[in-house]
Amino acid sequence: MKELVKRYPKAPVNAVDGLSFEVAPGEIFGLLGPNGAGKSTTIGVLTTRVKATSGSATVAGRDVIRDGVRARSAFAVVPQRSNLDRSLTPRQNLRFHAAYHGFSRAYRNARADELLDQFGLTEAADKKIDFYSGGMTQRLMIARSMMHEPTVLFLDEPTTGLDPQSRIFLWERVREMRDRGVTIVLTTHDMDEAAEMSDRVGIVDHGKLLALDTPGALTRRLSGQAVLELTVTPAPGDDADKLIAALTDVDGVARGERVSSAGPAIPAAALAMMAARGGPPPTMPAMPAADGAEVTVRLYLDRAAAALLGPVVSVLDARGATLANVQLGDPSLEDVFIDLTGRGLR
Ligand SMILES: Nc1ncnc2c1ncn2[C@@H]1O[C@H](COP(=O)(O)OP(=O)(O)OP(=O)(O)O)[C@@H](O)[C@H]1O
Ligand SMILES: [Mg+2]
Repeated sequence: MKELVKRYPKAPVNAVDGLSFEVAPGEIFGLLGPNGAGKSTTIGVLTTRVKATSGSATVAGRDVIRDGVRARSAFAVVPQRSNLDRSLTPRQNLRFHAAYHGFSRAYRNARADELLDQFGLTEAADKKIDFYSGGMTQRLMIARSMMHEPTVLFLDEPTTGLDPQSRIFLWERVREMRDRGVTIVLTTHDMDEAAEMSDRVGIVDHGKLLALDTPGALTRRLSGQAVLELTVTPAPGDDADKLIAALTDVDGVARGERVSSAGPAIPAAALAMMAARGGPPPTMPAMPAADGAEVTVRLYLDRAAAALLGPVVSVLDARGATLANVQLGDPSLEDVFIDLTGRGLR
């Protein structure tokens, strides 16, 4: 896909704004981005549902923009919103799809039964689609996408709204397809899922590609190679913000932030007043005194976490703070995503 642009009629900006990337055969490729980033539009163009404004795109070597009809037999798509035919039963939806792709009656009947069974829909196979739950609808659309043998499978938010059982089940099917050599392009908002499932991930926003790499390489690239999370209690009289500032001053700490504190912060003066009156009113939850409040601090490091444990502990010792818990970790794909796309809502 090269320099792909899509501007919807009357829209002030491009929904897809010069996207170029390639997905290798047999790969699971995750397309991530905030709401409205242009993921579904991109999938729409690649699956011939949306007409591109400019640029070029091929799927399995077939030009989806100039020769959509020929391209359609090479891929299958599970769209974000149901496009099942509500005038047909679930079983008929499956059979009809295979008929459209030119499969024989014997093949399509047998394949439909097999998939209905595999997806736990045999008993509901002849009901009205209107009676299907969200998860059943999703399973039926995935079953439909497997009725013909596609080279490339597009899944637009396939696990949104699925219960954990269906989610695990779906990922087993997706891995099976990948093992059979099917290329998979998916979108998701679940960062853990994206990191676990995708060989490579592309992060888009405002129709542009911000990053494209393996999940591991993306997280390593984030400022700081590691994260150190401390649960500490500042010494009596010390202030948590001053303590964090001192920790951020340690050589090798790129950035420090307070994650959460135990209980809502209450000004020391208010607590002193409560104490003078015989302690907090009974309706208030018990909470540590301001001086003894435990805080969780996250430090983003630009070197290995183990090397900084010593210096960090020295700072805590010097200030008389008590350390309750330490966690070493890598930044997550979600950290990368927020770092690239910001915290604002779309
Ligand atoms: N049919 C349409 N007509 C006009 N504008 C559209 C249409 N479909 C999408 N858009 C606009 O194009 C932009 C990209 O939308 P798109 O659905 O591709 O985003 P997305 O990344 O899939 O978002 P989400 O995560 O919410 O599914 C948005 O600004 C959206 O409002
Ligand atoms: Mg979408």
